[in-house]
Amino acid sequence: METTRTELVFATNNRHKLEEARAIVGDMFRILSLADIGCHDDIPETAPTLEGNALIKARWVKQRYGYDCFADDTGLMVDALGGAPGVYSARYAGDHCSPDDNIRKLLSELEGEENRKARFTTVVALITGDCERIFTGSVEGSISTERHGDGGFGYDPVFVADESGKAFAEMTPEAKNSISHRGRAIRAMEEALRSS
Ligand code: IMP
Repeated sequence: METTRTELVFATNNRHKLEEARAIVGDMFRILSLADIGCHDDIPETAPTLEGNALIKARWVKQRYGYDCFADDTGLMVDALGGAPGVYSARYAGDHCSPDDNIRKLLSELEGEENRKARFTTVVALITGDCERIFTGSVEGSISTERHGDGGFGYDPVFVADESGKAFAEMTPEAKNSISHRGRAIRAMEEALRSS
């Protein structure tokens, strides 16, 4: 039977992200997805910053559905591309592109480039009651010249974390979570929730 854990909505339907968050705060909260609360809205992500987009999503859920919630927005910043794709990481290869399209474009933009340094940054916006809080997490790495592994999602096959020397797609979900941008941002949120 379900225990009396407080419900907290994660404003996403991405099952990888939901699993990552449940592994970190699942003992404290029953994490619900957008689908779980009957939200099938196409929430606009029109802000020019990660923080702005995370706040749009969290406020959308709080204001329209009434749940305490958090939302994340992530960018992949590649040094040789002046920080691109950054806040536009999801649509790097075009409006309705696939993760594979994005990887193909990234590898082609970096063809012949020696400086492959990159980082993922996640901003999490948390709204509990009328309190809004922001948490950030980053992970340093580099973009490989070829795809590796078959786990994870998004750019995971070509992002090699400095700390592991492996592509995220080659790591177990637990190992990725322990060093990832989103893992770090959600653990910062967890610490704040435990101490409040
Ligand atoms: P979002 O803001 O979390 O939806 O992410 C923006 C873009 O970054 C999308 O293309 C995602 O696939 C990608 N992305 C976000 N998190 C990760 C990750 O942990 N690994 C690889 N790609 C990611």
